[in-house]
Amino acid sequence: MSQFYVTTTIYYVNDVPHIGHAYTTLVGDVVSRYWRLKLGKENVFFLTGTDEHGQKIQQAAAEKGLSPKDFADSVAPRFQEAWKVLNIDYDFFIRTTDPRHEQVVSKLLEKVRENGYIYKGVYKGLYCVGCEKFLTESDLVDGKCPLHPNKKPEYQEEENYFLKLKELSIDVLKRIEAGQYEIFPQKRKNEIVSRLKQGVEDISVSRAGVSWGILLPWDKKHTIYVWVDALINYFSATQFLKGKERFWPADVHIIGKDITWFHTVIWQALLIAAGIKLPKAVLSHGFFTIDGQKISKSLGNVISPQQLIERYGGADAVRYLLLSASQMGEDADISFQRFDEKYLSDLANGLGNLVQRVAKLCELKKFAISPISLNSPNSSISTHIERFEFNLALEDLWQEFSALDAKINLDKPWEKSDDKAGKDLKVYVEKILELSSSLSIFLPQTASKIQQIFKVTKISAPSTPLFPRIG
Ligand code: MSP
Repeated sequence: MSQFYVTTTIYYVNDVPHIGHAYTTLVGDVVSRYWRLKLGKENVFFLTGTDEHGQKIQQAAAEKGLSPKDFADSVAPRFQEAWKVLNIDYDFFIRTTDPRHEQVVSKLLEKVRENGYIYKGVYKGLYCVGCEKFLTESDLVDGKCPLHPNKKPEYQEEENYFLKLKELSIDVLKRIEAGQYEIFPQKRKNEIVSRLKQGVEDISVSRAGVSWGILLPWDKKHTIYVWVDALINYFSATQFLKGKERFWPADVHIIGKDITWFHTVIWQALLIAAGIKLPKAVLSHGFFTIDGQKISKSLGNVISPQQLIERYGGADAVRYLLLSASQMGEDADISFQRFDEKYLSDLANGLGNLVQRVAKLCELKKFAISPISLNSPNSSISTHIERFEFNLALEDLWQEFSALDAKINLDKPWEKSDDKAGKDLKVYVEKILELSSSLSIFLPQTASKIQQIFKVTKISAPSTPLFPRIG
């Protein structure tokens, strides 16, 4: 592996960022920070952005009395701000209203048509504006979309251009089964394979009744279906940004489980139809609920990343709490009470105390050391990250911190002479610095504070704790 390209889903601008979106983006950040350490900054490309076309955005803009573009312009920065406060170090933020993206989309779709995979037909059936998706009978629960039970699916009958998904899906299935691209976790791969085996219908790639979108190049009465437009962002950024062509195909697309079908079947089919290489992997994470309830504006339980940052005094605590809250691929329920407890035990009392304790001992024992160079993450943590097991990587790291704490209790360096204690302290400082390199992938600000404390000749205890008490 000499380079790495990681993408996150791009977020609809009808909503403002919440912790569900934050999780997808955080995973992207962790993956790219890991590969940057291994391969160098210039060999990693991390892309995120916003999904700004389609009926849903058109409606949301109309409700606010704004043009869709003005509306998107007002919301897209909210995502950029949220990622900034969470310390997400992306390389490029793509917006699907960027004319450079629009051009690549048009060209790609022209190619699909030239290759004979598009035909004209009439779509009759139900559409869920919330999902921006045509619904089949089997998608419905009590006649409604299960993800948007408050919105009645709309009956639509309109002239559309169709993609020959049925034909392409045979190739898609073959490639998944041959392991040509991976779907993580395995259970999601199994679901996709079994659904593909049940048979697939062709899908619309244009909308005659929606004006807010990229015009279909060969028939300007239509706009391009918003999902097709959005999926192409992963490829388009590598085409219109200078020097980024080499990053295609992507190494991993990070997404939530609700949109796995789009990313593992429709996206692959489009690329096959256009004659473009397929991405190497799709990572589909689970959903968060809050106190057992779906996160939703109507329930009024939406938590923004900023709210959590205020409560826990910084981005790193929030990054830790979100990344350790779930096992990759599984849903997880979160609650302030559990977050508070975890903050206290693992951060304030755990890592925070350990750092304070070791620094204080160094100060008392007048410990001096020549600055130590840092190494890369240890192998068990690397393996977990490469398998996308972030909660396990954090568990391993925290076990190392606890083991160090236990060792200090056994060694009792405070009872020893400065000279003898110095030998113990050297081991502790080296260990903390070694672990800070893995920590920097997850909690970058904390890792850098730790390095500032210990990468000096004369170590002294910091005046403020790494993780202050809350509440
Ligand atoms: N715009 C589409 C994606 C197009 S990608 C070519 C979209 N946007 S979204 O804003 O609705 O969702 C963005 C991401 O947030 C998705 O990955 C979704 O799974 C994730 N989440 C939304 N709610 C979530 C939770 N409650 N929990 C965890 N992730 C969730 O879909």
